[in-house]
Amino acid sequence: MKYTFGHTTLAAERLRRIAEFFNPYSSRFILSGVNDKIISACDMGCGPGYSTEMLYEATKANSITGLDFSEDFICIAKEKYNDFIFQKQDVTKNLGVHKYDLIYSRFLLSHIPDISSAINTWKNSLTKNGKIFIDELEDINTEVPVFKKYLQISGSLVKSQDAELFVGKKMDSAIKSYNVENNYSEVIKVPDRQASAWFYPNAAGIWSESEVVNNIIGRSEILQIQKKLLELMDNESKESRITWKMKRIIIFNKITKP
Ligand SMILES: C[S@@+](CC[C@H](N)C(=O)[O-])C[C@H]1O[C@@H](n2cnc3c(N)ncnc32)[C@H](O)[C@@H]1O
Repeated sequence: MKYTFGHTTLAAERLRRIAEFFNPYSSRFILSGVNDKIISACDMGCGPGYSTEMLYEATKANSITGLDFSEDFICIAKEKYNDFIFQKQDVTKNLGVHKYDLIYSRFLLSHIPDISSAINTWKNSLTKNGKIFIDELEDINTEVPVFKKYLQISGSLVKSQDAELFVGKKMDSAIKSYNVENNYSEVIKVPDRQASAWFYPNAAGIWSESEVVNNIIGRSEILQIQKKLLELMDNESKESRITWKMKRIIIFNKITKP
């Protein structure tokens, strides 16, 4: 199994830039649902650890764990953050005996084919008053042609792994049988320059080796997309013609009477 957008140092740097922008929004979401002291928190699909660091800053949990199936990302995370626990783990599989007060996922479920089963697995790892915080992509809206094209190709790439880029759209039906404390969407405006800087590394990197991409567009069109993204990255304008819609859900475990 592999992560659609790669596990290279370049991919890690891309995730750092994305985290730098989204961490304040995610942090507010987490704080809105934390009422008690968190002893143990877990970041599912932690990547190189940037969401894990944000999770620690928001919760000040005694123990923070990051799980990811990428050995490369887990190595980067371990080198950067000595105080957290990072483990190589497929988060769709049994997570073992450890129980968490808080389980968090961001930009992960877009890469998981069966999200209901994954959430169910996580629920088994919650303490009795524990909660799952889901912070996932619901939509990206734009009228800028190069962004639209990029998103069409990214959607196809994710679909080729049986997953859904805009997984937030499927979330309401996936959580039907759970106790839901909060469920809302937040639309976030992103500057064109910023979005281009997140898109460019994929268009210039993994796309060229991807059979799926090469079946959709030719080499010259890939080069055109790269060129347009570079132009937008270098543009001094502060225009924001693209929005991210994030789906935010808090699921809580049933409190059992003593
Ligand atoms: C877009 S990155 C998000 C990283 C981090 N959550 C953040 O917000 O910065 C998605 C991560 O999920 C990981 N991933 C995808 N499927 C996984 C699975 N089944 N088990 C564990 N990790 C997985 C990938 O390796 C990648 O690091």
